[in-house]
Amino acid sequence: MKRYTIGVIAGDGIGPEVTREGLKVLDTVSALEGFQVDLVEYPYSGEYYLKTKELVPERVIDEWRTLDAILLGAIGHPDVEPGLVERSVILGLRFGLDLYINLRPIKLYAEHLCPLKDKKPEDVDMVIVRENTEGFYAQIGGHLKRGTPDEVATVTGVYTWKGCERAVRYAFELARQRGLARGEGAPPPRVTLVDKANAIRPHDIWTRAFAHVAQDFPEVETDHAYVDACCMWMIKNPDWFDVVVTTNLFGDIVTDLGAMIQGGMGIAASGNIHPGQTSMFEPIHGSAPKHAGKNTACPLGAILAVSMMLEFLGEQSAAARIEAAVSHLLGSGAIPAVDTGSGISTSQMGDMVVRQIQAS
Ligand code: IPM
Ligand code: MG
Repeated sequence: MKRYTIGVIAGDGIGPEVTREGLKVLDTVSALEGFQVDLVEYPYSGEYYLKTKELVPERVIDEWRTLDAILLGAIGHPDVEPGLVERSVILGLRFGLDLYINLRPIKLYAEHLCPLKDKKPEDVDMVIVRENTEGFYAQIGGHLKRGTPDEVATVTGVYTWKGCERAVRYAFELARQRGLARGEGAPPPRVTLVDKANAIRPHDIWTRAFAHVAQDFPEVETDHAYVDACCMWMIKNPDWFDVVVTTNLFGDIVTDLGAMIQGGMGIAASGNIHPGQTSMFEPIHGSAPKHAGKNTACPLGAILAVSMMLEFLGEQSAAARIEAAVSHLLGSGAIPAVDTGSGISTSQMGDMVVRQIQAS
């Protein structure tokens, strides 16, 4: 029997509640598909930091490298300095494990979820490939004369050829696979590069890496949008996008926009991936402190993160069962919304997904 060791960082706020439902679903599909999951829980969070003053130690990052995958709930606590624990845990994972791809599918599962007029599921089905280890997240910069009228703050965006090339190549490979999955007669796969190379000229490293990699994928159409225009097109014509590749910061921003056009933050999932190595999966939403402990948060983002994790681990059939169940519950209207106003509690929604998986 196949066995996977999965690290679990439930984190802060609604993190533990949605993670619990994700694990419930994982348990269900592992029993049906016949694989074993060993969970290793880690306490790192804002909550834990307030109690212990401990952030993620280096030896734990080494330990994480030996796991098959990691599931994360959400990190962020209102009583902790902004970003301190997020940088330690989330960026610690992304940088420490060199998880250079942040994969963020944006898929509308049911028309009634979409805030855009007349947009149907076939209009919203794209994947954002966010570069995940560079850009303005590289932590290069700082303050001079902090707190004085002469203060200077700097931050440097870092783009390496290697970093751009591997992100772009991943995007093209993904587009190729999506094209094959859609089959003959379907529109050709397309990759859109999103940058700001008009105002930020060094972004032309992306332009060149994109052109370089595109040569190896003659069947994939190429497109380009500046990030401001990308936001506009995502609202006006989301159907134009198939695979999008972009910088770390732009990817962060456009995926919140993307989450809204698929129904809300409650359903958006992501994978922080280094192909072939330990990778981390998480819902896109944060810890949402004001909803914490109320059993009202939507767990579908965490549940779909489990599906993405299983796909990454090669358990395609288990992954597909989860996605199909979520898709069915949303499509049928059984789950009418993916925010806290759905009228269905966090644990009930997890149970509904479990029952739907078992029934189909
Ligand atoms: C995300 C989050 C993180 C990011 C924060 C919590 C550091 O917004 O995963 O999108 O900026 O990447
Ligand atoms: Mg974000």
